[in-house]
Amino acid sequence: MKKTYFGKVNENKSAYLYTLSNRNGIEMTVSDFGAVLTRLLVPDIQGRKRDIVLGYESLAGYQKNTDTYFGSTVGRNANRIAGARFELDGRMYRMPANEGENNLHSGPSGYQLRLWEAEKTEEEKNTITFLLHSPDGDQGFPGKLDLRVAYTLTEENEIRITYEGCSDADTVFNPTNHSYFNLGGHDFGSILSHELTLFADRYTPVTDSASIPTGELAQVAGTPMDFRKGKPIGQEIDSDFEQLRFTGGYDHNFVLCGETGKMKKAARVSCKESGITLEVETDLPGIQFYAGNFLKDETGKCGVVYRKRNGFCLETQYFPNAINEPAFASPVIKAGEKRETQTIYRIYRKE
Ligand code: GAL
Repeated sequence: MKKTYFGKVNENKSAYLYTLSNRNGIEMTVSDFGAVLTRLLVPDIQGRKRDIVLGYESLAGYQKNTDTYFGSTVGRNANRIAGARFELDGRMYRMPANEGENNLHSGPSGYQLRLWEAEKTEEEKNTITFLLHSPDGDQGFPGKLDLRVAYTLTEENEIRITYEGCSDADTVFNPTNHSYFNLGGHDFGSILSHELTLFADRYTPVTDSASIPTGELAQVAGTPMDFRKGKPIGQEIDSDFEQLRFTGGYDHNFVLCGETGKMKKAARVSCKESGITLEVETDLPGIQFYAGNFLKDETGKCGVVYRKRNGFCLETQYFPNAINEPAFASPVIKAGEKRETQTIYRIYRKE
């Protein structure tokens, strides 16, 4: 594991980058700033290394990361909370509204903007663990929460992300990783030719462009939302389908087959040009497939300008607005309960 200086966060504190590598030539870089994933180098079909995640060139980019959420650890709660408020144990809690009247990704002081503690590095496991103490009332949530995010790079070419949370009061615990992948490389351009499979028969339709789920679980069958057999992301993204018109392209939560708490296949994506395939597994009930529709001329690493749909996100999660939707699995952890969840991004390469 290699530790390098990333930049000054303020007068007294600095941020660092940690690079983990394996014997197959994969290199992953994460930072204690925001527990963000900044770089993922993978040898392509010709053995040339491609960086398959979008990101910023320097710390300054990550300090303003409230729009794209490149590489972010999002918390306490991923996606939207309708009306920026919720009731828990008979009390109403309010959060900042940062997208119309709703709360998106926990508001303007997201965990991706905090300096985390690099708590421990385990060379034998190729793991680094970041720790964040989130005080009672942080972002409007009850309870003092301790959150650990561990990144592991295995010899099986897996990036394992483990989240562990424990709070002194009942609270919401629904973190995710918001990395934008482009399996042709961060400077490859459009992701529309990537082939995507989603292991989901149903998804959660939204009411309108505010993207709050209706509470219904709709069948993907017979609609452009059906990725069960695999198809290019771009095949039907602009079709005249109400749900896609609302969101301007894929930006929906898919209901994963299988039980919450058990690891299961969620998604598979491949890029012909690089020969790189990414598989996602999780123990969570849902996955947000976001096709990068809102990306707009964002300057990133090496001055590369990322345009609309130049990256995609596969964010494992409890369903959007689950805290207000009794029909959805609850994202609440009880006081004193220790909750662990895991997501695996597995890389396959054609040689
Ligand atoms: C996604 C969300 C999108 C958009 C994006 C950040 O998780 O579903 O609607 O807000 O984050 O730009």
